[in-house]
Amino acid sequence: MKGLTDAVFRNTFAEHFDGFDSALAPFVTTVAADRFTDRHVRDLLPHQNGRMPIEPQILGNSADDFSFLARHLFDMGYPDVNWNLGCPFRPVTKKRRGSGLIPFPGQVDEFLDKTVAVIPGRLSIKLRLGRNTPDEIVKLLPILNRYPLKEITIHPRTARQMYAGRPDLDAFEVCLAQSRHPVVYNGDITDLKGFRELSTRFPQIDSWMIGRGALSRPFLPGIIKSGKDDIPDKIAPFQAFYTDLFGRYQELLSGPGHLLDRMKGFWKYFAVGFENGAVLEKRIHHTFQLPRYLQIVERFFEEEAQWEG
Ligand SMILES: Cc1cc2nc3c(=O)[nH]c(=O)nc-3n(C[C@H](O)[C@H](O)[C@H](O)COP(=O)(O)O)c2cc1C
Repeated sequence: MKGLTDAVFRNTFAEHFDGFDSALAPFVTTVAADRFTDRHVRDLLPHQNGRMPIEPQILGNSADDFSFLARHLFDMGYPDVNWNLGCPFRPVTKKRRGSGLIPFPGQVDEFLDKTVAVIPGRLSIKLRLGRNTPDEIVKLLPILNRYPLKEITIHPRTARQMYAGRPDLDAFEVCLAQSRHPVVYNGDITDLKGFRELSTRFPQIDSWMIGRGALSRPFLPGIIKSGKDDIPDKIAPFQAFYTDLFGRYQELLSGPGHLLDRMKGFWKYFAVGFENGAVLEKRIHHTFQLPRYLQIVERFFEEEAQWEG
């Protein structure tokens, strides 16, 4: 998740919680080869990603720029790269990037035709059902079927929906029937019960991607893997994770403002896992001084925190 799950987060998460086999790294945007610097792939350096295997992801619509960046990533040792056809944000989609490309199967075909031939590793794709309507993907899948992709990950919402409503499972089922590639399901997995319902309905799926649900409930991937939720105290291990995370960003980020902003970004998700998280989130959101933030969080962990359920 762009702006949240960078290498620091992924490594710290993997040190404290079980369950994930790998992570899709937040997208890197293509740049023309003559403007590329190592800064673009700083978060993907293999020695900084020792705890959690990752697959890099690229956002862009130029086959040349994509191939250049993908070749660089393959040279860094990654066997696969992912193409982002899912990003729903208007500044991205209006440039026909991310999910903005889904309504243009011809352009996707041309892109894949040029790219697949020249990249030395495997390509996977992450996409939504469409930009405006959920049937756009139906016209795209026959094109994707013609190329040797590693897998496709489908988040069954349209970009227009952003995150509103529920994933469209009927549309997902249609995609499953039409795709010849392995399909990964993604969207709104937030508890074991919901996961079981999905895996019962789609027994042919053996890869699942969890985003927001794992930020809010970091024990969830492990609970899903083990099939049981038997962790008696979730607050102490969560606090240990948070403390490490905070310490690492404190070392890395320049200035209290950046640190506070980063923590505010995380607490939007962390707070959801707590029974009384909404009040905490509001308090943190309205805090602009790091010492005050530290007081609020300390008091929360010492006196107030209640894990949901
Ligand atoms: C803040 C934020 C950043 C995201 N960044 C990315 C990204 O860089 N690449 C990507 O493929 N998806 C990204 N996503 C989408 C998620 O990977 C995922 O598809 C979506 O949140 C639905 O899954 P979930 O319900 O498990 O979160 C992002 C989502 C959010 C909320």
